[in-house]
Amino acid sequence: MNFDLPVNRTRTASVKWDYTLGQFGADDVLPMWVADMDFAVPPAVIEALHTRVKHGVFGYTLQTESYQEAIINWMQQRHSWNIQPEWIQYCPGVVPALSLIVEVFTEPEDQVIIQTPVYPPFYNVVKDHGRELVQNPLILNEQGDYEIDFEDLERSLSNERAKIIILCSPHNPIGRVWTQAELSRIASLCEQYDVLVVSDEIHADLIYEPGSHIPFASLSEDAAMRSFICTAASKTFNIAGLNTANIIIANDTLRRRFHKVLKRYALGTITPLGAVATESAYREGGEWLDALLTYVRGNMEYVQSYIQQHIPEIKVKLPQATYLLWIDFRGLGMSDEELNRFLVQKAKIGMNRGSSFGTNAEGFMRMNMACTRATAEEAMSRLHAAITEWRKETN
Ligand SMILES: Cc1ncc(COP(=O)(O)O)c(C=O)c1O
Repeated sequence: MNFDLPVNRTRTASVKWDYTLGQFGADDVLPMWVADMDFAVPPAVIEALHTRVKHGVFGYTLQTESYQEAIINWMQQRHSWNIQPEWIQYCPGVVPALSLIVEVFTEPEDQVIIQTPVYPPFYNVVKDHGRELVQNPLILNEQGDYEIDFEDLERSLSNERAKIIILCSPHNPIGRVWTQAELSRIASLCEQYDVLVVSDEIHADLIYEPGSHIPFASLSEDAAMRSFICTAASKTFNIAGLNTANIIIANDTLRRRFHKVLKRYALGTITPLGAVATESAYREGGEWLDALLTYVRGNMEYVQSYIQQHIPEIKVKLPQATYLLWIDFRGLGMSDEELNRFLVQKAKIGMNRGSSFGTNAEGFMRMNMACTRATAEEAMSRLHAAITEWRKETN
């Protein structure tokens, strides 16, 4: 578990490292964008995969009782959430699940609510099905923290065409862990207006205060009956390329309908390597995860204190969850386009543009901190040098 050890990811067909030219128009940027990690997965996962690979046959694969048990234990131990084996529905990814749920549980004239700024595919899974997208913009308060605008949310939920709200819990990119009070208020509004809840909880394990994340379905019986909880070991253990997610659906009717659409597109069969990696990560990866969180937090604290000390024009708050830093560059007074050009061409750092998460996030950037400390230091040194130049030019 030496997270300082660099792993060369170039020429591994890595989206983050090998697609910078396509993404940024430059191949000399330090890639700190796509949400995967630069670290090798837990040793126990590598070992389990080795054993499976050595077997040599990779035919159609079952979701075993042992696989389900690993998920059940993890949810119980990490999130105090009791789930039943039959609630677990495999899906090749969380985003495919969001898309299928919108397709099956809404009609073309229906509305789907999302809380912006948010992970860009939330927009696509609604718009690509021709459903009406309704935004419930998060409020950025004077302390630089995001809050839910409940008045606006109730207005949206009360529309009779509103059928689904997609929550991001914890929220990417702003890094909030929603509190019990916030989630309960959402749950009671959804009950009142009879709206289904899709809770994307893919970042749930990446929290900096143990036990702070509350699975939406654990709030109440009604919340369990109207929700789809999208989970995966993919962000937590860096196995996103293995295409394995688990959608937890307590309501039999909703689950049957979801299962039917998975079958329709022939998407319901787990892959042998995805199954092995997910099960071994949940069974044996806990200690690795705790060490990872400490390391990533260290990266974030380093970046925050560097920025405070050397680049006071920029603001950064530590997130409650995710390995992503949400950085406020508005103090530079650049347009979104100028800021992007400055970071790519002058600082040579590849981050995700705030505007890709929502029009209310222009001037922000998302920086992936699941990297070695040396990469974080290199990023700060590049940024500082570019800012120093910029100060000279503008003064
Ligand atoms: C909120 C959220 N949902 C889903 C995903 C991706 O899920 P998957 O790769 O399982 O489709 C991401 C990846 O960054 C994410 O941040």
